[in-house]
Amino acid sequence: MPIKLVTTVADLHSQSAQLLTDKNGTSQGLVPTMGALHEGHAALARTAVEQNDVVVATIFVNPLQFGDATDLDRYPRTLDADLALLEAQGVDLAFAPSVEEVYPGGEPLVRITSGRLGEKWEGASRPGHFDGALTVVAKLLHYGTPGAGLSAGKAVDSEGAPGGLPAYRAYFGQKDAQQLALVRRMVSDLNFPVEIVGVPTVRSADGLALSSRNRFLSDDEREAALVLSRALRLLEERAKAREPLDLESAQTMVQSQPLVGLDYFDVVDPDTLEPLAENCRETPFRGEALALIAAKVGPVRLIDNMPLSS
Ligand code: PAF
Repeated sequence: MPIKLVTTVADLHSQSAQLLTDKNGTSQGLVPTMGALHEGHAALARTAVEQNDVVVATIFVNPLQFGDATDLDRYPRTLDADLALLEAQGVDLAFAPSVEEVYPGGEPLVRITSGRLGEKWEGASRPGHFDGALTVVAKLLHYGTPGAGLSAGKAVDSEGAPGGLPAYRAYFGQKDAQQLALVRRMVSDLNFPVEIVGVPTVRSADGLALSSRNRFLSDDEREAALVLSRALRLLEERAKAREPLDLESAQTMVQSQPLVGLDYFDVVDPDTLEPLAENCRETPFRGEALALIAAKVGPVRLIDNMPLSS
């Protein structure tokens, strides 16, 4: 079915309600994006389509989460290609609102605060970023609530019987591990009625995690950036083999690449993102952890991560 494009919240509600009714649907998935879509987003959309009767993707470059106006201006806008990619995955509806539609009163006076979980790692180098991202995610989750456009009594329950609420799931990439952890906490701490589904990072054949920023890398920088995923893989192998992770040697490997300026590289608890005390040299690795890395490669800041388990 061709994808439908809507730009207002009212149309999003009426069109998604119509789709639920037409499909006799009992579930709705939301895929929030900022556009400039790549295979990583395609994986989010495909997972949502597999798991839900109706899927809505949002395309909105959220000014609130950009620290600097230049970064916001140069964020790629590729609406036609984005719609084609979403349609190819089977997404039903794309919501691409204007800034005025999302923030009709200008910048919101009240925002979601990302708290302690948002202050470290990416939050430390991008102040305000996660407050802006969570604020828009909260709004998008509200906009995408299934049945918002259904008249009372017409919603369906999980067996398709009238009167119940359709299941609601929202999809986020594991690539932005801190954002995913924050969204999960926001939803559980503030009781949002939605299930958050994390989707594994998609990598190109040489290991580089897909990102809308990769297009700004020169050939040499792209080659140099591969050290990030190599270092993560090294930790993954050591963890699987229940060897000491020896994070230091992996850090040295990254630091020895002249085009790469390492910001952080650590092994953390996957939920709290607190560094694990025993991640390093002598202790054989046991359990679950997350390796987080961020580096500047030429002018481009890249992040990547790897779940570790043994
Ligand atoms: O991950 C992104 O693309 C954005 O941070 C999101 C979740 C769409 C909010 O603007």
